[in-house]
Order: sequence, then C-alpha cells, then structure tokens
Amino acid sequence: MTLRSITLGTDEHRLETSALGYGAMSLAGAYGAIGEADALALLDHVAQREVTFLDTANIYGDGESERVLGVFLKHRRRQFVLATKVGIEKGAGVGQRRARGDAAYIREQIDLSLRRLGTDHVDLYYLHRVDPDTPIEESVGALGELVTAGKVRAIGLSEATGEEITRADAVHPITAVQSEWSIFARDVETHVLPTCARLGIGFVPYSPVGRGLLTDSFDPKSLPADDIRQNFPWFTRENITHNAALTAQVRDVAARLEMPAAGLALAWLYQQAAALGVQISPIPGTRTAGHWDELQRGVDVSLPGDAMAELDALAGQVRGDRSFDPRWVSGGREGLLPRG
Ligand SMILES: NC(=O)c1ccc[n+]([C@@H]2O[C@H](COP(=O)([O-])OP(=O)(O)OC[C@H]3O[C@@H](n4cnc5c(N)ncnc54)[C@H](OP(=O)(O)O)[C@@H]3O)[C@@H](O)[C@H]2O)c1
Repeated sequence: MTLRSITLGTDEHRLETSALGYGAMSLAGAYGAIGEADALALLDHVAQREVTFLDTANIYGDGESERVLGVFLKHRRRQFVLATKVGIEKGAGVGQRRARGDAAYIREQIDLSLRRLGTDHVDLYYLHRVDPDTPIEESVGALGELVTAGKVRAIGLSEATGEEITRADAVHPITAVQSEWSIFARDVETHVLPTCARLGIGFVPYSPVGRGLLTDSFDPKSLPADDIRQNFPWFTRENITHNAALTAQVRDVAARLEMPAAGLALAWLYQQAAALGVQISPIPGTRTAGHWDELQRGVDVSLPGDAMAELDALAGQVRGDRSFDPRWVSGGREGLLPRG
C-alpha cells in the first residue's frame, strides 16, 4: 500500500507531505492513557505505512506529546514533515486556557518546543488560535521572523476565519490552515476553504473522525466522567443519543461499501476537498495500530454519489456546536455558530 504525497502551500513556502498525517495529541493522553513504549511502537507503525507528516503542539500534555515525538525522531528527523503550534496558554484552573499570540510569547515558545522535539527547526509552525488582544499581523510577523532565523520552514494558522487568513497571508505567505473538518463539522466550507483555495493554501483537517464519533467502535456510554469529550456539546447528555443515531447512519453506509467507518470519514474529506479545489492532509489521532489501518483505508477511495449524498445530509442534523465556546473556533467568529 503506497501512500501518495500532496503539496501544502505554493512556491518556496510549499511543503510536500503524505496525504495523511498523524495527530499526536493522542500521545499525551487526550482520549485515554498511553505509555511511552506503546506510543513509540505506534509511531513506528504509522511510519511503516509511509506517513511523513506529524502534528503536535506545545500545549498537548504540557509538552509531553512533543517530548515523545522528540524521542521517536532522534535518528530519523529528516524523514518527516514536523508541525507544531503556539498560541494557547494554560490558565491556573482545570480546563482554563486563553489565546496568546504576542511576538514575545511566540519567540519564547519556539525555543521550548525545539528543545522538547530535539531538533533545530520545525517544518510547519502554526498559530494555534488567533489572539483577540493581539493583531494577527503581529503574530504572523513574529512567525515570519522565525522563518528568517531558520527555526521554522513554513507557517500556518489554526481556527482562523477567512478574513483573518487573508490578512495574515498579506504579512507572510501562509502554507497551511488547520481547523476542524469532518462529515459532522462543516462550517469551514463556507469561508475558510474558499479562502484557502483562492490563496493556494493547504488545509489540514483536525478531528476528522469527530473525536471518535465517526468510527465503528466508539461507544458514548463508555466515556469516563473525566474524558475531555464530556466538555464538547456533541457529547453532552442532551445531545449524545441523537448524535449517536447519526453515527449509526455513517456505519451503515460504511458497511454497505465494505469499509470501516473511520476510513469512510476520511474518504469523504478527500472527495469534498477535491470538489472545493483544496489540497488536504487530514491528521487523525489514535493509540492503536489497528485503528490506524482502518483510517488509512480511506485514502484513494472513490465514493459513489448516493453515499456522498447520504453523508452530506448529516451535518445539518448534528445537535450542538463543535465547540463549547463558539468564538474559540473560526465558525463562531464568522457567525456560523451557534447553529441553534
Ligand atoms: N488545531 C487544533 O485546535 C486541534 C484541535 C484538536 C485536535 N488537533 C489535532 O488533530 C488531531 C486529531 O484530532 P482528534 O484526536 O481530536 O480527533 P479524531 O482524530 O477525530 O479522533 C480521535 C479519537 O478517535 C478514536 N479513533 C480513531 N480511529 C479510530 C478507529 N479506527 N476506530 C475507533 N476509534 C478510533 C481515537 O481513539 P483510539 O485512540 O482508541 O483509537 C480517539 O479517541 C490531534 O491529535 C491533534 O494533533 C488540533
């Protein structure tokens, strides 16, 4: 099984990556514990499947995800396109955080990330959230300085609106935008993806299997009380039964096509992206090799029109927004959330 490559961005700001990347938030216990040995074995498995794109952030497990990637990359850094992020600062209380994008913070955080990752540069450095108190021009200007300094090869934005992306790209070419996009979360199709298509910016869909909802084995009843998904509107007691019924419809389509639901969710993304004229490399997260192989089944699958139509109808029926704070994500600031 060969995994094809794609190009994010254009000209000297472009990056060649595998068409599927690995999201390493899961390596810091975001959705359940995983020990270092298992994390390294999983990364080996993903690398054997020809994945060259790895995604992390300074905030995942307070740097733990970056640290584990650093161990993995020690003798093979050059094989990978490595992306990390800056721009979310933890508060004192549990679950408290804020967007922070001032230049001094960005300059400080890149050095901490490089140290944990055991490398002298990252290939893609994202602003994790747009800071409402700092002009995006300042944040992107600071990211651009890191490119000049050789600490970063290319820059990206996460959860930026179409308008914010356009402003940022005028300061320094943006190579990729990373935001949530899946069968259940489609607000980026309104402004963000057309902006990426217009400016030649690549798109990196995060949570492409809806944090587990778009898979065959996720069972909402088994979610532990301290699972972070309890904080997301899709998963609350009022909404989850309704949304799980939509999951059942996705599983039905997948069963008809004799593929795993997780693979179907990715195949849907590739097909949508091609229709919108955007290059993508989705970055699902998992802790198991078996789940990874299900995800990768979605690359290079052509879905029949009736399956696409059935899946297209689901997002409008999902109950709850994709974030508990709509302004934390691009769709909220674009007036697309709350959906009511
Ligand atoms: N920029 C941002 O603000 C942002 C926000 C969130 C995430 N991200 C990035 O995007 C990556 C992916 O997002 P995500 O982890 O939130 O969501 P996701 O990839 O949609 O879902 C991950 C969840 O799905 C489960 N899963 C994956 N494949 C499965 C399969 N085949 N069968 C059953 N369950 C499966 C995983 O459990 P198992 O471990 O049991 O497989 C995990 O609980 C993150 O790792 C991170 O790098 C970025």
